[in-house]
Amino acid sequence: DAVELGQYRHYMQKEIFEQPEALANTLELIGNGGRLQPGIFGAEAASLLDGVRSVLILACGTSYHSGVTARYWLESLAGIPCTVEIASEYRYRSSAADPDQLVVAISQSGETADTLAALRHAKDLGHTRTLAICNVPESAIVRECALRFITRAGPEIGVASTKAFTTQLAALFLLTLVVGKLRGRIDEQAEHDHLACLRHLPVAVARVLELEPSIQTWAQNIAHRHHALFLGRGRHWPIALEGALKLKEISSIHAEAYAAGELKHGPLALVDRDMPVIAVAPNDSLLDKLKSNLKEVQARGGELNVFADADSHFPETEQIHVLRLPEHYGDLSPILHVVPLQLLAYHTALAKGTDVDKPRNLAKSVTVE
Ligand code: G6P
Repeated sequence: DAVELGQYRHYMQKEIFEQPEALANTLELIGNGGRLQPGIFGAEAASLLDGVRSVLILACGTSYHSGVTARYWLESLAGIPCTVEIASEYRYRSSAADPDQLVVAISQSGETADTLAALRHAKDLGHTRTLAICNVPESAIVRECALRFITRAGPEIGVASTKAFTTQLAALFLLTLVVGKLRGRIDEQAEHDHLACLRHLPVAVARVLELEPSIQTWAQNIAHRHHALFLGRGRHWPIALEGALKLKEISSIHAEAYAAGELKHGPLALVDRDMPVIAVAPNDSLLDKLKSNLKEVQARGGELNVFADADSHFPETEQIHVLRLPEHYGDLSPILHVVPLQLLAYHTALAKGTDVDKPRNLAKSVTVE
C-alpha cells in the first residue's frame, strides 16, 4: 500500500490517531485571526448562500451521521431549518423542491452511487444551490456541485470512516457559522469565540486520544458480547448512532443506538445483564434527563459504560463504569465524544480478532447501487 502504517497495526487505528492533524489541516484556512468569509465554500458562495431559507443534507453511512449532527448546529446556531435524508431514500421519493433551499451532499469519497444519484435528482427537481463536502477534490460529487468544501483528512483507507467524519463535522460547523452570519444570527463576538474553540480542537482531540488504555480494558468486556446498546441525547444522539455503526461494522457485534428518551418506548425490553449499554454523557443541558434515563437501565440490571465529561458527576459502581473526557467542549462536543467510540469499536474488533480494515461484506466506497 502507498500509505505506510508506521507504528500502527491497522489503518483504522492510524486514522483515528491522525485526527488532530486532519482537523488542523482542514481548519488551516481559518488562520489565527480575522473573520470567516463565505468564499471558503467556493467563488460563488456569497451569492448562492445569500437568501437560503433552509438546508437539505443528503448522505449515506457515516457521512449521514455527520449530517444529522450538523442539523443541531444549523438550527440552533444559524436558526435555519434543516432536514437530513438518507440519499438512497431521497432519490426515489417524490419531494417538494424549494429553489431557496441549499442542498448539501456529504461524502468522504465523493463517489457513493446513492449520494451522487440523490444530488442529480435534487438538480432535476430544480435545485441550483448545491454544496459538496468531500474528502476527494476531483470526485464526481464535487464536480457536480456549484459549491464545495474539501476536507483535508488525507487518504482514508480503513473501511470504517473515522477522520473523514470528524473533518466533515468541522466543515459543517464552518458552514453553520457562515450561514449564521449571513442571517444575522452570529455576531462578531460569537464568531470570534466559535473560531477560538475550533482552533483549539486538534489539541482537545489529542487529549481524548490519551484515554486509549482505559478504552482497551472496556473493549475486553464488550468483545465477548452479542449485542450492545448505545444511548445519547440531542446533538450527541447522532454520535451514539455513529458509535453503534462503528462497532457493528468492524466487530460484527449487533449494536443499536437510541435517543435515550426513547428507551421506554421499546429498547428497555432488551436490557438485562448481558446487554452492555454505552452512554454518551457530556455535561450539557440534557445531562440530568440522560441520568434519569440511565437509572431505568440500572433498575433492569443493565451494565452501564458511560463516556462522561470531567465534571459530569457520575458515581462509579460495579454496574456503572465511567470514563471522563478531559473537558466539556460546548457546541463542538460531538467531535470529541465520537473519538472514544471509534477507539472502543477498534479495540473490541481487535480483541475479537475480526478484520478491522476490511470488515466482511463491506466496501470502502459503494459506487454501484
Ligand atoms: C460505505 C463505507 C462507509 C461510508 C459510506 C458512505 O458504506 O463503508 O464508511 O460512511 O460508504 O461513503 P462516502 O464516501 O459517501 O462518505
